[in-house]
Amino acid sequence: MNQLTGENVTHKFMAANLFRGRVYSFGLGIALGVQCFSFLPVPAIARPPQLEPTETEEVMVAASHPLATAAGVKILAQGGNAIDGAIATALAISVVQPYSAGLGGGGFALVFLNQEQQVRALDFRERAPLGAGPDMYLDDHGEVMPRASLDGYRAVATPGTIAGLAELHRQYGELPWADLVQPALDYAQQGFIINETFHRMLQWRWPALRANPEAAALLSYQGRPLTVGDRFQQPDLAKTLGAIAANPQVFYQGWIGEALVTDMAQHQGLITLRDLQEYRPVWRSPLCGTFLELEVCSMPPPSSGGVALIQMLNLLAKLDIQQNLQYQSASDRGHALAAVMQIAYGDRAVYLGDSDFVPVPVTVLTSLDYAAERVKEIPRRQSRSQAQVRPASPQLIQSLEQRQESTNTSHLTVVDRHRNAVSLTFTLNGPFGSGVVVPGTGIFLNNEMDDFAAAADSPNLFGLVGTTPSAAQPLANAIAPGKRPLSSMSPTIVREKGELRYALGSPGGSRIISTVLQILLSLELDQANALEAVTAPRIHHQWQPDTLFVESDISQAQIQDWSKWGYSLQEQGRWGNANVIRVLPDGRLQGATDPRGNGAAAGF
Ligand code: GLY
Repeated sequence: MNQLTGENVTHKFMAANLFRGRVYSFGLGIALGVQCFSFLPVPAIARPPQLEPTETEEVMVAASHPLATAAGVKILAQGGNAIDGAIATALAISVVQPYSAGLGGGGFALVFLNQEQQVRALDFRERAPLGAGPDMYLDDHGEVMPRASLDGYRAVATPGTIAGLAELHRQYGELPWADLVQPALDYAQQGFIINETFHRMLQWRWPALRANPEAAALLSYQGRPLTVGDRFQQPDLAKTLGAIAANPQVFYQGWIGEALVTDMAQHQGLITLRDLQEYRPVWRSPLCGTFLELEVCSMPPPSSGGVALIQMLNLLAKLDIQQNLQYQSASDRGHALAAVMQIAYGDRAVYLGDSDFVPVPVTVLTSLDYAAERVKEIPRRQSRSQAQVRPASPQLIQSLEQRQESTNTSHLTVVDRHRNAVSLTFTLNGPFGSGVVVPGTGIFLNNEMDDFAAAADSPNLFGLVGTTPSAAQPLANAIAPGKRPLSSMSPTIVREKGELRYALGSPGGSRIISTVLQILLSLELDQANALEAVTAPRIHHQWQPDTLFVESDISQAQIQDWSKWGYSLQEQGRWGNANVIRVLPDGRLQGATDPRGNGAAAGF
């Protein structure tokens, strides 16, 4: 067993192997209790007195693990573009953070092509298996079976990661695909040292992982779960990546897909060869809005991220959050944020789902007309209960639909020397997904089925609900064969007069959207640098539960004000693991990863 800490090994490995012959700028997030997925509390941190972000001239990668950042930077140093860098970084994350995202999951990528002046959105979200149905998690009495959508084979949706990354490469990659897979393959073969975060995630998910013999064997050493300081090697995953390097289709049509469906068939899972063969990533129009001088683009459905982000920015613009003297104190700003979050998350619960299956009133919800109607409800210095914040009535949606002029509306981060950018968020959903590892492949499978609404008003892992104004109306996010579960992932690209300003995103389940919003506001309204923006304490309100969640380093003065104004407050450690790269006025890059995680921003 290697007794070195993960961070030591990381630095030595990077210095020795990756950063030869160049001076690299490298900023590490402070290793703390990371909250990638959830809202489990972690202890408060002491903020460092000065928050210096990473700055580089040409290229930058910001990702949630230093080894993944190093993989991306290596590819950019070989002449790859932002898309190549993002693919290599994502594949490396799949190896070094198997609890967070990987080959057995899915995601979204926003791509900014500078020369073409185009932002494109790729959806490689998982799909419900064709054998899935709306009642699949209900028992004979119509009750939701606890954990059925979270643990084991029936929690798994058809994975999209490899199809998505291969499609990104097919369209825009410049280096050979196999070169992009190589750093991940090296990490799988050589192994890496388990850090505190990995260990904590493993402990949290051990009950589910232990129930799967393949996962239990992979994640154990001498009969005990792996722990901090152990070296984690993944020979099966290295074999899998070798096959994918030769031909990514092997995941869907070759021996890897066959291993997956054989395992499914033996354990009452639903994914068949047909599910795999029919899986396709989808290019979608990104959803863009304006805020101050900025064009903010994020992910359309099946993510709720873009709709909610633009909705909240519109509402804040209508409140004139920048100038209005009513909103200049931290407490008043926080109240405005909580109020707009309640509105956006309430609408999410009713109206958002996979727009290939259900009509989603995207145009209305992201319109300034709608924001103008809803902003009137926000009281001064007074909270509103969940019952008072009613989602938009179908009548209001209908009347605004008639007023729309057009129906045309619309996390690792990599920026290359041409100022192309990729903002990519992908996931297995919960830590280690469903806890299932496909025998012989090293692939952890997602539990993305939990992102569907298993029944009306039944909260998922993140406390999110799907609901309807009346029992007669179908749930927008109900399960259906081939449908994509509603996501909150919000990879975001922000431009000003066509020029790239920021690329950003975060994990954090339902809190992704509110995290991205607050980072953007820190950058724009507070002129924070990248590290200050990702470090600033966060709040979150998701309509249901009727609670304003606050991070543990929010000031006591704010807490007292919000309590006085009627908010029901809950302090919950710190959450999210964001990263951001910004283009400075002189054209250089500034980036940072979240001190809540162990990530790194680096480049040259
Ligand atoms: N699985 C979390 C999300 O997609 O929002």
